Amino acid sequence: MLPSYYEFHNPVKIISGNKALDNLPSELEILGAKRPMVVTDKGVAGAGLVKIFIDSFGSSGMTIGAIFDDVPPDSSSEVVEKITSIFRQNQCDSLVALGGGSVIDTAKGVNILVTENSDDLLKFSGAEVLRKKMKPLVVIPTTSGTGSEVTVVAVISDVKRNIKMPFASTYLLPDIALLDPRMTLTLPPKMTAATAMDAMSHAVESYINLQKNPMSDAYAVAAIEIICENVLKAVSDGNNAQVRLAMANASTMAGIAFSNSMVGVVHALGHAAGGICHIPHGVAMNIFLPFGLEYNLPKCRENIGKLLLHIAGDEVYARTPESRRAEQTINYIVELRKALNELCGLPINLKQAGVTEDKLSEIAQAAINDPSIVMNPREMDVNDALAILKKAF
Ligand SMILES: [Fe+2]
Repeated sequence: MLPSYYEFHNPVKIISGNKALDNLPSELEILGAKRPMVVTDKGVAGAGLVKIFIDSFGSSGMTIGAIFDDVPPDSSSEVVEKITSIFRQNQCDSLVALGGGSVIDTAKGVNILVTENSDDLLKFSGAEVLRKKMKPLVVIPTTSGTGSEVTVVAVISDVKRNIKMPFASTYLLPDIALLDPRMTLTLPPKMTAATAMDAMSHAVESYINLQKNPMSDAYAVAAIEIICENVLKAVSDGNNAQVRLAMANASTMAGIAFSNSMVGVVHALGHAAGGICHIPHGVAMNIFLPFGLEYNLPKCRENIGKLLLHIAGDEVYARTPESRRAEQTINYIVELRKALNELCGLPINLKQAGVTEDKLSEIAQAAINDPSIVMNPREMDVNDALAILKKAF
């Protein structure tokens, strides 16, 4: 059924394909950029991806203004300020983020300061505070999961004040998301699996929550189909460029879906467990996804049931009675987790991820205060959260 009102926005140009990177200099030129600054991390540089990136500039005549390759896994305002001053010293005029979620959010933060000509990031924190078109930003994801290349949000820690600053603005949407399979070929199996399950959770939560709409649904189910077809191949045969490109596309589609419809309890629990016990986000998504669906079942049985078609295919969908489809969807996700666990050891419960039982109450409390919960189909109180956590333990 169509919602009586909805909004959907995605102006990000997607450039996808083998050697898509070779088009970057001309794309930057179209954006009016002459001296881009590259923001990346040591892992990306160590895997040789920065070299592939630099080589793609070849004889294009475009000058790379500066390269910063030391973004930490959890970026902070201090890092953003440091990169901002390098950007200014080198008279850069645009940004290229080459990395995963932390690198992309950092580049978005730098773009706020250089565009606003400010050194105070906190001033721009919150929803729709920004009012200016930003400098050109191209994002080249090196993981297939976060979807940050197409989202309106960034989260950056303020270490001095000990807070996480959220930013949400349509101005934070990058100009281009460039998907080149060479950027994910070296991603290790466990990381491939964890980030894929993050993308899967984006698509699934987007499809069942209160802000879903026909546009976000279309992206969500397309993403789910591609993930289900390719994730095991991506984990067991990382060198397959076609499979890697498929996963990059799925992650971007899932990002477009949830950027327009939000997520839900799986993410609320994952953010809380990540903040308190430092479980990597994708690992937490893999652990919580079936339990979150089971919790939401009484409120959105039909939508969870419809997902069976996209997860298991038309034959399974057709032979499963309508009354059992939602449970079957959850069973298929449980089976997928088992297969990933056998292939690469991706944890399927909190204990395996190193969480101790005494932390569960604290995680439950943090989860019910997480903003991701707002559009979840079923309201979750602290006892509900604790019950899910005990099951996932
Ligand atoms: Fe996520």
